[in-house]
Amino acid sequence: MRFSLATTTAGVLLVRGVIGQLVSGVPVGPKTPLSQKSGTICDVLKYGGVADGKTDIGVAITNAFTKCVLQANGGATLLVPEGEYLITTGVVLNAGTKWAFQLDGLITLSEDGRFNGNAIVVKRATDFEMFSSNGKGAIQGQGYKKRISGSTQDARLLRVCSTNPRTILTKDTQIDSPTFHLFHNDATNLENYHITVRGGNKGGLDGINLTCLSNCYIHHIEVTNRDECISVKTPSRNVLIEEIYCNQSGGMSIGSLDAGGTGSDIEYIHMRNIYVHQCTQMLMIKTWPGGSGAVGHVRNSLFENFHAYDTTYALDIDQYWYGRKDPNTGAIAISDLHFRNWTGTVNNGASRGPIVIRGSDIVPLTDIKLEDFSMWTENGNVAVLQCNNVYGTGYCAQELKGDAEPSPVAATSTLREPMEGFVKPTRPSWGVGPTGYGLTVPIPVYTPAPMWGTNPGPSRARKRDPQAEGRGGGQRGPTETPPSRKPRGYGGHRRS
Ligand SMILES: *[C@@H]1O[C@H](CO)[C@@H](O)[C@H](O)[C@H]1NC(C)=O
Ligand SMILES: *[C@@H]1O[C@H](CO)[C@@H](O)[C@H](O)[C@H]1NC(C)=O
Ligand SMILES: *[C@@H]1O[C@H](CO)[C@@H](O)[C@H](O)[C@H]1NC(C)=O
Repeated sequence: MRFSLATTTAGVLLVRGVIGQLVSGVPVGPKTPLSQKSGTICDVLKYGGVADGKTDIGVAITNAFTKCVLQANGGATLLVPEGEYLITTGVVLNAGTKWAFQLDGLITLSEDGRFNGNAIVVKRATDFEMFSSNGKGAIQGQGYKKRISGSTQDARLLRVCSTNPRTILTKDTQIDSPTFHLFHNDATNLENYHITVRGGNKGGLDGINLTCLSNCYIHHIEVTNRDECISVKTPSRNVLIEEIYCNQSGGMSIGSLDAGGTGSDIEYIHMRNIYVHQCTQMLMIKTWPGGSGAVGHVRNSLFENFHAYDTTYALDIDQYWYGRKDPNTGAIAISDLHFRNWTGTVNNGASRGPIVIRGSDIVPLTDIKLEDFSMWTENGNVAVLQCNNVYGTGYCAQELKGDAEPSPVAATSTLREPMEGFVKPTRPSWGVGPTGYGLTVPIPVYTPAPMWGTNPGPSRARKRDPQAEGRGGGQRGPTETPPSRKPRGYGGHRRS
């Protein structure tokens, strides 16, 4: 697989402010402009790197980091110039401050490398960014070789962990992967965009896995795989995710969350402008039962402008994930979620309609607002909406009267004609190919060109750093929302 970093709702009953957003007045992305990090260039070719596709680049990256980046006072850039490199040993780049990783070449993981779980780890980084200046930065994991040979090499491509505030901008890098692709652990003030992930079509190949301590902005990303597109894990708060293209993928997700174990702390998540082509779901929130009463929460979040062409599930909330029922003593409490403007088609509306919510019988969902779903089914002529234990407004949600306590309630409704406003979608141009990338053939790194390639990114970001096209940064107040842009490469099947 491969992956590329290039280049109030309100609950319904309560009146609140806007929910699901970045932290007001706190910019995302690196603090120091890139220009201040380019005074010291730590070129891997000067530290033993050879662009011959054979020599291990791992040692050279480590040396460039410890002997140059960490020695530089006031900013440095670790450079992997254009060319082809092999990596056979995993790299851990620990505790750098004010630095950039400029990946302009293609790094390929050797099948029998020693990675200890990850090809490249950046940890305890402060004021860090990773980018590619030529759109050719890529990590090719050659996962198909591992799957053919049954080798135990199981490296993630890139893991970025940051405990210090002020973090990451990833841009313009193509990455190709073997197992999971990109991890952001405990990110703060993260910006992450222009990434293409291409993986085999099987589970266990998540695109982007995020835990966000505070304030993370993820946008303009494309994922082709058969597991999650972008997965938000606990703990996460104040996350904005927008302009995401999930191609033959699992789709967007939150979870899995364990009521009996680690619990959950997820709130203020805003996902919008999410485009799904033949995914397993548009969005799934998945939790396990257990614990004693409500253990943790997913709440105060907004999910809007989701569009699908032929998805298996659309909105899918499952509190008995994987059919696990025991012990059915409690659950993660899910409340104050707003879903609006969902369009497109599910594959088989009779078995999986546009709304399928299997809430906990012990801790029903409350203040769930379902609004403006304009969907229909590709196959058959009915669509069944299912709300088990869902209180709120819209479609199959049940109204909670007065100060009644939520009690178990099951509601289904069978639609015999398209939901109001439905417009039949066509297959998006970026979603060609009905089968995914398969498992035993190489996945192309640079082709097709990332569909967001000509997209300038959000205007507020450009204002902050006009030199760098699409560079992140800027800030957003709690009620301000940036204009959403249609990437020019987008085939366009949306209603307008
Ligand atoms: C995603 O990240 C979380 C937090 O680091 C981790 O617990 C989880 O195992 C990861 N998911 C996968 C599929 O590896
Ligand atoms: C609904 O979402 C689509 C994208 O899926 C967007 O093009 C459209 O403008 C949205 N409509 C409203 C009323 O926000
Ligand atoms: C979407 O996935 C298909 C494989 O099913 C692939 O052929 C196509 O190139 C992917 N689109 C993009 C933009 O990567």
